[in-house]
Amino acid sequence: MPSLRDAARGRILFGGDYNPEQWPEEVWEDDARLMKEAGVNSVTLGVFSWAKIEPRPGAREFGWLDRLMDLMHAHGIGVVLATPTASPPPWMGARHPETLPRTEDGSVVWYGSRQQFCASSPVYRRYAAALTEDLAARYADHPALTVWHINNEYCTHCWCDETAAHFRRWLRSRYVTVDALNEAWGTAFWSQRYDSWTEILPPRKAQYMKNPAQVLDFKRFTSDALMECYVAERDIVARHSPRVPVTTNFMPLWSGQDAWAWAAQEDIVSVDIYPDPRDPQGGQYNAMLADMTRSQAAGPWMLMEQAAGPVNWRGVNHPKPEGLNRLWSLQAVARGADAVCYFQWRQSRQGSEKFHSGMLTHAGEQGRTFREIKRLGAELLTLGPAVGGGDVPADVAILHDWDSWWAGSQEGRPSSLLDYAEVVQRWHRALWENGVVTDFARPDADLSRFKAVAVPHLYLLDDASIDNLVAYAQGGGTLVCGFFSGVADVDDRIRPGGMDERLRDLFGIRTLHEWWPLEAGETVECEGFEGTLWSEELEAAEGTEVVAAYRAGELAGLPAVLRRGRARYLSTLPEPAALRGLLGDVVREAGVAPVLAGLPDGVEAVRRGGLLFLLQHGRDTVTVPVAGSYEDLLTGRTVEDRVELGRHGVAVLRSTAP
Ligand code: GAL
Ligand code: ZN
Repeated sequence: MPSLRDAARGRILFGGDYNPEQWPEEVWEDDARLMKEAGVNSVTLGVFSWAKIEPRPGAREFGWLDRLMDLMHAHGIGVVLATPTASPPPWMGARHPETLPRTEDGSVVWYGSRQQFCASSPVYRRYAAALTEDLAARYADHPALTVWHINNEYCTHCWCDETAAHFRRWLRSRYVTVDALNEAWGTAFWSQRYDSWTEILPPRKAQYMKNPAQVLDFKRFTSDALMECYVAERDIVARHSPRVPVTTNFMPLWSGQDAWAWAAQEDIVSVDIYPDPRDPQGGQYNAMLADMTRSQAAGPWMLMEQAAGPVNWRGVNHPKPEGLNRLWSLQAVARGADAVCYFQWRQSRQGSEKFHSGMLTHAGEQGRTFREIKRLGAELLTLGPAVGGGDVPADVAILHDWDSWWAGSQEGRPSSLLDYAEVVQRWHRALWENGVVTDFARPDADLSRFKAVAVPHLYLLDDASIDNLVAYAQGGGTLVCGFFSGVADVDDRIRPGGMDERLRDLFGIRTLHEWWPLEAGETVECEGFEGTLWSEELEAAEGTEVVAAYRAGELAGLPAVLRRGRARYLSTLPEPAALRGLLGDVVREAGVAPVLAGLPDGVEAVRRGGLLFLLQHGRDTVTVPVAGSYEDLLTGRTVEDRVELGRHGVAVLRSTAP
């Protein structure tokens, strides 16, 4: 199987989305010159080029792309070539309105923006396949081609009639009979029983709350339907160029695609990451997404898009202060990225993204952003041979799952304040602040290589996953599980007792009486800390250790944190410092040491392939103790026993000990 290692060949890919169709051809030469100057070795072409390549149905305008592929090759720049199928041209919607998505209430999502396609539309799929076929045939053997990039951020949803028919086919293969579907969806409730397949619809706008199992299946279906589009195009390009790796870029921690399932269909896992430069947790957010993507890739991954400066889609869009782009880019490399790429190379002058930064901004080559880009490009060039392809060791896994996210995020639950992604981030943050590198894993994955496994919150766990967790704990693994987990089965049916019995046994819960969610900003006092968001009325089984009890409110005196052997259960979300402490105890007990002891606050340490990365997320100049003698690959200098890092400073250390 071709991989990122093949495409990168010991380098770190550096570059970005390149949209030359927005510029007169004279600018292209200038682009190539400046790319060279910046150390760019990879550009992504074609992402939004459908209308340029196929200006009217069946037409093919490849001349301009030929010239660009040749130009890039002449400058030694590889091309990540995109199938331009994310944004059909207006002619498609005008001639084939059935390719346009419809929302839950039946209104049409028109052209005039982007990504207006229905994944279930045979017409869209036919045009997309034909174009992909011709594109692949034309460029399969082009020497500039390094990676195929299918579509862009698959994210569309549709509730149209074509989708309804497709959904029914998907449901038929899952349930075979309508009776089985009725059972799985619990349609005895509110007179929802279906008498035949033809009555079944996507969950369209309704009078009151929708059937949650139907909504869950629709989310599963939508992820699968989009994946069919991806697989169809992937198979075409792979047929033409079996040695060129294929990817599609994920949105980070995005609920619309089951990234575990998708990643298994990719040669390279790539992702687009846009932390808010003002977010004090931005560095940890990056780390989490890097860990997640690396885990999906099971190896090096590709940072397909990030912003060199401000984005334009937040309410207020902040630039990156000097050094922040470099810090976050090198952080991605530390955590396994072999590609550091941007949206986009040259900032647009027209269109919706004219205020979105590029590597080359409106300020041009004299601009600060470009200056910083050049520095980073040069540094990545030196780092490549030392770091490219290296592994990032992790002893702790965080379990993460889309089914559970989908099922647990619906209407009609105990608290609408419970935000799955937020809880996952809080747990990752607590481990990150302990200086521990984490992988992510699916709940049914082989967990045996991890010393500790953390389950922030998995509302839905299928039987295989529960068996897996129980086996992991019984095999001597250290397991820590957050509130409101193991509640529902694969059909979103509440398990008897409100939580799976085997899990209750594992953690020492005799009875789960009630969930007691908290209001926004409300806390509940527990022994030694404040709980937030959630609490539970639990009765501990005999022989269970109550690590901390609730101390106030309706649950005063009842257990808040339980433990039985190496399995712990947290029935609330401890405030950040407390969660950091609790999870710190857990990993220490499991024999997991931080990457580096004695780090100043805000400094992150990561090992990759024998190198030690030190990253200062804070503003102050700090001294980091590192026992021994090292070469800092970024400066070429030798450092002994300590490293000084200024604001957003980075060091990449290689031991000089024999
Ligand atoms: C991504 C997208 C890019 C660009 C970018 C702006 O979601 O793939 O095309 O729009 O956002 O931040
Ligand atoms: Zn549709």
